Amino acid sequence: MASARPSQPDASLQALVEPMGEGDVPWVAELAASSFPVPWDVAAFRNELQRPWARLRVIRGAEGVPVAYAVSWCLQGEMHLLSLATSPDQRRLGLGSRLVGDLIEFGRERGLDRVTLEVRAANRAAQALYRRWSFVTLGRRPRYYEDGSDAILMVCPLRRVP
Ligand SMILES: CC(C)(COP(=O)(O)OP(=O)(O)OC[C@H]1O[C@@H](n2cnc3c(N)ncnc32)[C@H](O)[C@@H]1OP(=O)(O)O)[C@@H](O)C(=O)NCCC(=O)NCCS
Repeated sequence: MASARPSQPDASLQALVEPMGEGDVPWVAELAASSFPVPWDVAAFRNELQRPWARLRVIRGAEGVPVAYAVSWCLQGEMHLLSLATSPDQRRLGLGSRLVGDLIEFGRERGLDRVTLEVRAANRAAQALYRRWSFVTLGRRPRYYEDGSDAILMVCPLRRVP
């Protein structure tokens, strides 16, 4: 029997979102290497861990190894999502969605204005995920990435219009 698919992102709501620690970094860097053409390396994640305005989160799988992560900055009244990935063998299980939902919740709790991000124009999977969380396209940044690809700028407003 076919199961009904949720119309809103609600899968994996139980997945625990935890702060990324120093010990997670090699795993997370490996995850990034399997997810991006120009991935952040161990040093890049360690740098982020030092920044007071950076928020680094993981979801762990078996034996506590991270299977998904998100890095964002909290600056000037908004959250900016810099990097998000789910392990290739754990995709379409709701983990990316859980991390985006956690970020939005964090921003709302703090009364921030919005969440912004850039995503590769060709990255339809990520754009579909963000749209499910009510992100809308604000514009395009030509040749934003190292390989000359364009970025789409997306925003999710956090404040409800009265
Ligand atoms: C984008 C990414 C983080 C999604 O992670 P994920 O854990 O698989 O996402 P979820 O399971 O939470 O997906 C939630 C929804 O997003 C959309 N989505 C996710 N992957 C998709 C795909 N390959 N094609 C179409 N829609 C997709 C769907 O609407 C999905 O809901 P559904 O499974 O009920 O249809 C993951 O594919 C990834 O790590 N990609 C490589 C790195 C990357 O592109 N990061 C984003 C950079 S901006």
